[in-house]
Amino acid sequence: MPALPRPPLNLARRVGELDAEDPWGHYDRIGAVARSRIDAGLPDDWDWTGKRALDFGCGVGRMLCQYADAAERAELWGCDIDRPSVDWMRSELEPPFHPFLCTEAPDLPQADGFFDLVWAISVFTHMTDRWSGWLRELHRVLADDGILMTSFLGPGMWATIGDGAWDEDRIGMCVVRAGQPWSIGGPTVFHSEWWLREHWGRAFDFVSIHPGTAPSDHGWAVLRKRPGPISTEELERVSEDPREVDALLHNLELLHAEDRRLRPRYLRITRFPQLSAARWWAKRLRAKL
Ligand SMILES: C[S@@+](CC[C@H](N)C(=O)[O-])C[C@H]1O[C@@H](n2cnc3c(N)ncnc32)[C@H](O)[C@@H]1O
Repeated sequence: MPALPRPPLNLARRVGELDAEDPWGHYDRIGAVARSRIDAGLPDDWDWTGKRALDFGCGVGRMLCQYADAAERAELWGCDIDRPSVDWMRSELEPPFHPFLCTEAPDLPQADGFFDLVWAISVFTHMTDRWSGWLRELHRVLADDGILMTSFLGPGMWATIGDGAWDEDRIGMCVVRAGQPWSIGGPTVFHSEWWLREHWGRAFDFVSIHPGTAPSDHGWAVLRKRPGPISTEELERVSEDPREVDALLHNLELLHAEDRRLRPRYLRITRFPQLSAARWWAKRLRAKL
């Protein structure tokens, strides 16, 4: 099979930092690690022939390219909200893949039960308000018994970018950097295992879950669709578990701390924009000297 084309480096970098010396080696290594996780989560008797899989939040197709061999026997789809990435994929990688643009609103064009497998790598790790709508939508487009695999940020990533020590009992779905644009990585969302089991477990059975405890490790969950409809209200419903309220209060504390840290800068920039611009230029000049 001929080698697949590389995306422009700026689009590849949009989905994650890359080594300055060896960006493509780094890009491929991340893809290969994710492929090994997906492969390990597939049932023993899995055969790609005739299957339909969706890479939800495919970026510029890093993961799909890892499955070029399977694309000969299966339909491999990918969707993303980023038009330049999807435009590039449509011009360079279709065929063998089926890329399409989606919006931030949870609404896919496929019929109910269309896919056998959906994976989402580093997508729910950045999704704030619309997580339940998207989980419901992925549940809808999966066949009964279909498989959903997702990465999430747990103790390992908290050790790298979180605030203070990871306290499992005080973290549920914890959102920080809420307004950060996608062009620089999007918001950051952590999940604990108990919270995922409580909320996502209302629509899916957990086949396996690894929270990812080593620094910078991502968590990984393999789920199987439970048949029947599910509503966003049901997915979001706060349970009787006392950790739910503790986790919400903890997230509130973190958001207050973030606001206290950022507000003075925000006021400086909005009230004294010329001063801020002058400071910015002075800093750049100093860096160049
Ligand atoms: C960190 S990147 C990971 C990309 C890809 N999964 C990979 O591992 O190379 C997250 C991607 O999710 C996409 N995304 C965010 N919200 C989305 C949504 N609602 N629907 C589809 N894609 C989304 C972003 O545009 C971005 O390309």
